Formats: sequence, C-alpha cells, structure tokens
Amino acid sequence: MAFDIEMIKKVYENIPAKVDAAREKVGRPLTLSEKILFAHLHEDQPLENFGRAKDYVNFSPDRVAMQDATAQMALLQFMQAGRPKVAVPSTVHCDHLIQARDGAEEDLPRAKSESKEVFDFLASVSNKYGIGFWKPGAGIIHQVVLENYAFPGGMMIGTDSHTVNAGGLGMVAIGVGGADACDVMAGLPWELKWPKLIGVHLKGKLNGWTAPKDIILKVSGILTVKGGTGAIVEYFGEGAESLSCTGKGTICNMGAEIGATNSNFPYDEAMERYLRATDRNDVADAANNVKNYLKADPEVYADPEKYFDQIVEIDLDKLEPYLNGPFTPDLATPISEMKTTAEKNGWPLKVEWGLIGSCTNSSYEDLSRAASIAEQAVTKGLKTNADFGINPGSEQVRFTADRDGLLHIFEELDAKIFTNACGPCIGMWARVGAEKQEKNTIVHSFNRNFAKRADGNPNTYAFVASPEIVAALAIAGDLGFNPLTDTLTNNKGEQVKFDAPKGDELPTKGFAVDDPGYQAPAADGSGVSVVVAPDSNRLQLLEPFAPWEGTDLKGLKLLIKAKGKCTTDHISMAGPWLKFRGHLDNISNNMLIGAVNAFNGQTDSVKNELTGEYDHVPATQRAYKAAGIGSIVVGDENYGEGSSREHAAMEPRHLGVRAVLVKSFARIHETNLKKQGMLGLTFADKADYDKIQEDDIVDILGLTEFAPNKPLTIVLHHKDGSTDTFSVNHTYNAQQIEWFKAGGALNIIRKMHAN
Ligand code: F3S
Repeated sequence: MAFDIEMIKKVYENIPAKVDAAREKVGRPLTLSEKILFAHLHEDQPLENFGRAKDYVNFSPDRVAMQDATAQMALLQFMQAGRPKVAVPSTVHCDHLIQARDGAEEDLPRAKSESKEVFDFLASVSNKYGIGFWKPGAGIIHQVVLENYAFPGGMMIGTDSHTVNAGGLGMVAIGVGGADACDVMAGLPWELKWPKLIGVHLKGKLNGWTAPKDIILKVSGILTVKGGTGAIVEYFGEGAESLSCTGKGTICNMGAEIGATNSNFPYDEAMERYLRATDRNDVADAANNVKNYLKADPEVYADPEKYFDQIVEIDLDKLEPYLNGPFTPDLATPISEMKTTAEKNGWPLKVEWGLIGSCTNSSYEDLSRAASIAEQAVTKGLKTNADFGINPGSEQVRFTADRDGLLHIFEELDAKIFTNACGPCIGMWARVGAEKQEKNTIVHSFNRNFAKRADGNPNTYAFVASPEIVAALAIAGDLGFNPLTDTLTNNKGEQVKFDAPKGDELPTKGFAVDDPGYQAPAADGSGVSVVVAPDSNRLQLLEPFAPWEGTDLKGLKLLIKAKGKCTTDHISMAGPWLKFRGHLDNISNNMLIGAVNAFNGQTDSVKNELTGEYDHVPATQRAYKAAGIGSIVVGDENYGEGSSREHAAMEPRHLGVRAVLVKSFARIHETNLKKQGMLGLTFADKADYDKIQEDDIVDILGLTEFAPNKPLTIVLHHKDGSTDTFSVNHTYNAQQIEWFKAGGALNIIRKMHAN
C-alpha cells in the first residue's frame, strides 16, 4: 500500500541530530511530543525555545489523510493550487457517506450508487495528483491509517478531528481543516501554536473487565471536554507499556473528546508487534535503530512534574469499567454506580441498541474481546435483549475476524454486521422508529454521544463504553446491569454470570485480506481528467475569489449581528447538509442559519435592507450579492468555535460578505477566514458591539495602509443620520495581509506555481 519506507527512513535519519540540537537549545531533557515537534520544524523555521500556548511555529508534516466528507473541499481547493502532484504522501478514505441500515451486503452497494458521483470524483482527483485512494468499504480512515501509514515519531495532519488516533503508534497526528491540508499537499509549511503538555502516568495493569477505553473514559471525566485544549497529552508508565497498540489508539482517538491537539505513547514492544503484524518489518527495524528518540528522555519519566504542565495519575489495578454519557463524553460513571445514577436522573434503563465500531474501537482485539462475551451468551443459553450492530474498522479486520469465526459468533446473536465504515457514529444510520423521537437508551463503543448524533433523535440517551461492556449490556438489555457482579436468567431459568472477557491483541494466525480496497494513483497523472458535471448538485469546481479592489470598504450592509454562541455548526450546519460539502454554492444555502439575530432573537431571520422585509440569511445575502453590495457579519465571543470546517469561512466569502467583526474568534476559524481572503476583525473595545444597530451602513477604513499590529477603523452610519467611529484590531501578519490582498491564500499558491 505504498507506505513510503524511504520517507520514514529519512525521518529517522534526521531525528537524532534535530532532537540533540533542540535539547541543547532549550537546555533540558525533552518529552516525546517535543522531540517529534522539533524533528518536524519547517526548514525555514528557526530553532528556538518556543513558548507553550504562546508561539506559532511552522512545521513540515510527513503525511496527509482525508475522509470523504472533508476531502471534497480540500481537493477542490488543491485543484486550484496549480500543482501537478501532492508534495507529501496523502490518502483519501471513503467512510462517512455509507448509511447503516440492513447490513453491509445491501448497504454498501446502495451507498456506492447514491454517492457514485462523489466517489468517482475523489478517485479521479486522487489518481491524477498522486494520492492513495481507499474505496468505500475499505474501512474507517483512522483504522486504515493505523494499519498502513502511522509510524512512531512521525507527524501527520488529517481532515478529521480523530486523526489523533495515530498517536497510538507514537505519532503527533492532528485534525485540521481542508485549507490546511491543501497547504501541506502543496508543499507549504503548516502552522501550529506550540502546545502545552499534559502527562498521564498509568500505573498498574488492566485486568478482568477493564479495557483501554475505560482509561480514556476516566481521563475524560477528570479533564472534561475542555481540559485538553491547546495541549498534547503524553501517556507513560508501566500501564502504558502493558497496552496493545490498538488499545493505545483507542485512548489517543478519544483525546479529541477532551479537546487535545494530540495524544501519544512512547514507542514500545506493543507498537513493534503491531508494525510487524501489519506487514511493516522494515518500519519496525528502522524505528528500533532510533528507539531512544521515540520516547521521552529518562529524566522526564523520573520526574514528570518538572516537565509537564499538568500530571494525571491513574492506577489501572484499581480502575473499573465506565459508562460515559448521556449527551456528553465526559460525564463518567463507574459501572458499579450506573444503576443508581440512572434511576436518580431518570435515564431510561432499557437498552434498545448496542453498537460496536467507529474509528475508536473496531480493531481485531476489540472484536475478539466482545466476541468472547457474545460466545458465552450463546453457550450459556442467553440471547440479546437489545438490537446489536457491529462496524468492523477495516476490510483487513473484517476479513480476519470472519476467517477466525468472530463475526459468526455475533451473527448467532442476531447482530447486524454493517459496512467497514463510520455508519451510526456520524449519523449515517437508518434507525427504524427514530423519527418518533421517543426517549430511549443506546450503548456504543464510539467516541461522541452528543444529542442527535447517531440517529437524529434528541431523546436518544447514548452511553459510551468498551466493546465488551457494550456486548454485555446489549445481551442484558439493561443499563443498570453490572457484568462484574450481576447474573442473568438463561433459557433454562438458571442464573448465569459472565466470565471476564478474553481476546487476542493480534490474530494468532496473522492478518489476512483478500481485497483491501486500495487504489494506487497513476505514476504520471497528467493525462487523467477529473470530471465534474456542470449540472451536478453535489460537486462544483471552485472559481478563484476576486482580489481586493485596493480601496477602503464603504457602504457595507449589516447582514447579521449574531448574539451568543455561534459555532461552525451555527455558521455551516452538518446533518442533511453533509451531502453538499463538495458544492460551495449549494452548501451556502445553510450560511449562518443557526446564528441568533441579536435584534429579534430569532435564527435565520434578518432584515433585508433592500426591501425592509425579514428574510432568510442566505437569501438576504444573495440579494446583496446580486445588487453588488458588500456586507459585514458581527459576532460575539469565541465566534467560530467547534470544528475546523472551512465551509464556515468559504460560504460568506462566496456570497459576498466582506468582513466578520466579533468580540473574539476561535483560532482555527479566524485562520480559515484569513486563508479565504476575508477580513476577520475584533472590537478593540468590546462595548462597541452594542453600538451596532440593525439598519447601519458600515465603512472599514485604513485598508490602504493595512499592516501588522495596526488597528483599522469602523464607521457606523446610523439610520437617524448620526455616526459612530471606533477602532478594531486584527492579527494579520505580513503574509496574511498578502492573502487578503490576493483574495485568498490559494491565489498566492497558484501564482507561486505559475512563476
Ligand atoms: Fe468516523 Fe465516527 Fe470516527 S464519524 S472517523 S467513526 S468519529
């Protein structure tokens, strides 16, 4: 699968000198994360003792991975960059657009036909530009990456927040937006704020019913959904060494749920075993040569408080299984307390569905441990009291699990084997009866459990647990069942108890696969044509945005003054809009429809100043665009928080919004706005937000002398003839000002190539 051993060897060749130089520069021992970051500084980035959570630093990642929902816009942008080929090894994975309904045999062909146009587009772009293409059914991006591409000490970015999964194989792997992926594929540096470091010391050893999942469920409960923001979490200790590589992946994967930039583990024997089992002896051999550079310096492990910003300690000997939820992944309840807690809170106790899968928990080990519970149910005369569904993580896992009889065991319990894909985890689940919106409980081994995520029903109480606990609760059909202590009644009326789960870290007969679902790109893609039908409603080639006209911006209409939380979901909703991710004009019909208008408290209702009538936000903006009038969006605190989806910046740009003025920005969204050539401004005095009136005409002055650290001026022309004038700040550096002037970063990349 072309994992590029030469690239990996080069990384290992360079690691010692780069890390030694960095250690000398900072004058102290280094953690693993620091070693990987220092080893991947961009060649133009001077080596410094960077300030944690302070300095922006340029990196050169080794790889890029993209999933089908986000790859569309990333690749549409890349096509504009004018490059003949990607600059770093990159892959596309078709996993998000496959709905789980009847089981893989029916669901996969149906999805292939429904999204044929998108899959064909992704396949042809990949073929043309040297990108590896994983077909629908090949598996979930992060499992496929772990099996084929992740390597200890490497650095990658991916257009999915759970890219962090590759930390399980000792990588600094980070989720980004498509515009960032486009930059890296075009050979440009990638910028990240130097992270804070959280150390998690794992003492003791998992035993009995506890699984790697319980470690991250416990950590989520301690650190909460915000606790990892701006930080890399490093795991270490004897407990860390005792975990399988895929188990480490589970833990790193759910680092996204605590907001961590990445999580990782030091290189160890479990990683080596996994590399060898997945046919990568050469990577394991090469890693062994630089072993000490793939873990923190010994002084760090001896005195971690000195080197990490925060330390968390967990004793695995005493850990018990957890169930996290409902509605948030950090609400952690030990299984022994679930019955009482659920009764107290009125959570429905009857479990309707048990689902095993997602990028977090769909490895061979996961399936084998869950199957050991299912097998006991069969032999002990039990049946499932809930519906039961399984999504294997990859075709390699599915094929091997099938060969070894694991899938057959699930089928004996009437489980549905869904496609090797995201399925219910991303809401691609045709759950019968969900539209009735009844209050109900499901248990799954996924990572996220926000309201409506799996089945669109806001009254589905979703709880996250390890695959073996999911299996036990699906069989019991009872959220309050504790398999460590409780018994169930079998078909003979006897009380039976489960033994603790057993499983294989790796298949004893080795992995096997018939067709992994990989398509290598053409060696020379110049002759490959990429076809996008002009009348397609799912795909649309991008047109370059117009450059700045060279003057101050005057006479802008106020499109909306948003009040309160305005996340990327409020700006560009997901759910039913997922299918338009490759069509900028169509997806722009969701622009800001979730934002609350400060003047009437309503969503998707703003005054069209041309008619005086209230209308939908996208329709109003389209009217301004048609009349050749620019507009401005005003927002509150932390505008654009949430995901890195660049549609939230591209849609306003496409529809003719000229500036976004807010109290404060979420960093990634602010960068995305800059990349698309938009003006992202902040009130110098937040109280000036209150001066904005509904019928204002807005001027932005100072653009002809636009410079770093130099405020711009806003003039509000109110309806009564009065004016207000105030300063606004920006964080554009010299390079970003060039993006603004050129009409977007891509226009510059294209120009660089043309020269
Ligand atoms: Fe897919 Fe869910 Fe992971 S959507 S990538 S399985 S978090």
